[in-house]
Amino acid sequence: MALKTPVFESTLFQTRREQVLQRMRELAPGGAVAVFPSTPVATRNSDVEHAYRADSDLFFLTGFEEPEAVAVLSTQGEEPPFTLFVRPRDKDKEIWTGRRAGVDGAIAAFGASRAFDIATLDSELPKLLGHTKTLFYRLGSADAHFDARIARTLGQLRGRSRAGLDAPRRLEDPGQIVHEMRLHKEPAEIDALRRAVEFTKAGHLAAMRAGRPGSHEYELHSLLEREFRHGGGRGWGYYPIVAAGENATVLHYNENSVEIRDGDLVLIDAGAEYHLYTADVTRTFPAAGKFSPAQRACYELVLGAADQAIARTRPGETMDALHDGAVRFLTEGMIRLGLLAGDVDTLIKDGAFRRYYMHRTSHWLGLDVHDVGSYRTEDGKPRPFAPGMVFTVEPGLYIAKDDDKAPPELRGIGIRIEDDILVTGHGYENLTVDIPRTVADVEAACGRG
Ligand code: GLY
Ligand code: MN
Ligand code: MN
Repeated sequence: MALKTPVFESTLFQTRREQVLQRMRELAPGGAVAVFPSTPVATRNSDVEHAYRADSDLFFLTGFEEPEAVAVLSTQGEEPPFTLFVRPRDKDKEIWTGRRAGVDGAIAAFGASRAFDIATLDSELPKLLGHTKTLFYRLGSADAHFDARIARTLGQLRGRSRAGLDAPRRLEDPGQIVHEMRLHKEPAEIDALRRAVEFTKAGHLAAMRAGRPGSHEYELHSLLEREFRHGGGRGWGYYPIVAAGENATVLHYNENSVEIRDGDLVLIDAGAEYHLYTADVTRTFPAAGKFSPAQRACYELVLGAADQAIARTRPGETMDALHDGAVRFLTEGMIRLGLLAGDVDTLIKDGAFRRYYMHRTSHWLGLDVHDVGSYRTEDGKPRPFAPGMVFTVEPGLYIAKDDDKAPPELRGIGIRIEDDILVTGHGYENLTVDIPRTVADVEAACGRG
């Protein structure tokens, strides 16, 4: 059986671990230990599990993708810097549930200084934590059982002071180190995002071509899934939204089930994952292949809001400024469309625009669709963009079918246009610009003519 290896060069992960260890030394000069658990396997129903997807922090630091793993980084005394707890090799179990790197593979392929069977964690963890003053552990993340395990270990250590052990006095969030690093993408990460975008583009193009009246949301969903896997992608990075007609006004619609009717707009929010990096793209197209005048007016408003937000992107600019600009642009458009009436500044101040645009314009993007990284600086100001950051721009307009204040021809229209933007040295690159987004390009991609 071939040795399991990481999807990126192992030196990439090693360099990251060294950076984390260096920051730990700066933040805790007396020595510290950092613990990064895997995501637990999630039950779907009965004895059926969800497809396993590694924890993003653990993957970022190790490349290790198996469940039941824990990485420990240590700057404490003579402790080895990188300990990995993994499932042991087991011929019988591997026949049932797949290959494992095992303890030897954790060292040979994943660069661990030493590795242990995960079954020994409860006995090894007190030894690792019992001599350190500072523990870096992200309490309150996905796994409450692991939180309890850490708490139990700390309790045990407090009772063992006569044996020279004690619980760490300081608990620090490793996110302040690792999430800062994840926010600034390296070239290999940007390459992975580009591949994710390629698969995403193929999926959206296939859906635009097929999404004619009489087809179904589920058919488009299946085309997305095909393209997201075809060619080596991992599938979707978040569950796709395929929403026809008024379903597009439900922000997190994911039933993806009904027939698409003539005159519907179809909103698809779907992104492929490659090497655990996900694209996050929304396109909205007319099932008939041509926008109606009312649909077109709404679409061009949303596109204009996206374009002007994207065009502002450069190092030093902020997400808040992009959002405020998009809100102003959309609110002015809502007045022109007859959705709102009054003074634009007052409508913004009172939040009247939220009736039709109720979400933020951007979020960080990377290993997680709503990626990590602080949105504020240490002093609470909006965070300025820097080269290597990736984020979405996703303005929208959502007019409920039963909104009796809206002009009748606009009711039931839901539109979002979402692109993935890389901050460069002097400006930006729209990674998803080639997925049709102008009226002419979208209509051409539908190919109904
Ligand atoms: N697809 C999730 C989002 O757009 O934020
Ligand atoms: Mn998004
Ligand atoms: Mn999205």
